[in-house]
Amino acid sequence: MSSSLIENTKASVITHVSELGFFLNQVSDMPSPGQILMVQPTHYSIDYVINPHMEGNEGTVDKKKALQEWGKIRDTFKSNGLKVQTIEGQPGMPDMVFCANQSLPYVDENGNKKVIMSIMRSEHRKNEVPFIEQWYRQNGYQVIYIDPPGIESFEGMGDAIWHNKRRLLWGGYGYRTSSKAYDFISRTYNVPVITLELNNPFFYHLDTCFCILNEDTVLIYPKAFTRDSLDLVQAVFKNIIEADTKAAEQNFACNATSDGTNVVIQKGSNEVKDKLKLLGFNVQEVETGEFIKSGGSVFCMKCVVW
Ligand code: ARG
Repeated sequence: MSSSLIENTKASVITHVSELGFFLNQVSDMPSPGQILMVQPTHYSIDYVINPHMEGNEGTVDKKKALQEWGKIRDTFKSNGLKVQTIEGQPGMPDMVFCANQSLPYVDENGNKKVIMSIMRSEHRKNEVPFIEQWYRQNGYQVIYIDPPGIESFEGMGDAIWHNKRRLLWGGYGYRTSSKAYDFISRTYNVPVITLELNNPFFYHLDTCFCILNEDTVLIYPKAFTRDSLDLVQAVFKNIIEADTKAAEQNFACNATSDGTNVVIQKGSNEVKDKLKLLGFNVQEVETGEFIKSGGSVFCMKCVVW
């Protein structure tokens, strides 16, 4: 492999398989995030519609049930050895509980903690960002804003997902994030970004149809991606688990969270569950029904932090 190819293990944006000039083991290691950030669902509700899942669900959240579901997820993360940090939800910010969306944190090769703050697409969610930013400021992160013109929106870890333990980012776009955001992110963090175009409005964030389970394994819903994007996924991962339509659409199975061993996932997707078990994963089922009504499940109710 020529040296020019190896160079794109640093800042570069990859949109097509032909540009993929490296093997995963050439991308430098990144320490696992030992902590999880969560926002308490005290003010969680469905007050407006900004994705197809929310339609017809305004005012239907059972707050007590939502709080129980959220508590179980938090406890599951804790039992897996993760330290959980919580931020209080804010009145008038019913979606703040989905705290994958307001930021993209990173730790560089010298151990410096950095975070790029999101530009939320919907006016309804813009006020959430400063509250999350405050947490980062109090916890030693360098806070970075996206400033180049032409980037309308970027929704953090809803669309930008770190490859398991590698300085490699997967960047979804099409609904909530401008593809141009990834040029900025790639240069700012000095990492390659593989961009994936989404083409199904029910899967409006990358984390609704793409879940990295370990270095070599991903769970996806293929019908949410363009052909070029699927080719990229197939070129990088050895094992691809495909979720069936019911699991992906109704159970948000791809919005699971994996630490490489344990997979925390919405209850009931038996086919997916069997495939996960066959590959040796420990499946931990939880109930997230109150949050699926709003278009989210396990993955997007937390942000991984260092
Ligand atoms: N109601 C929220 C929205 O539409 C749900 C966000 C879920 N987040 C996610 N990363 N999938 O913005």
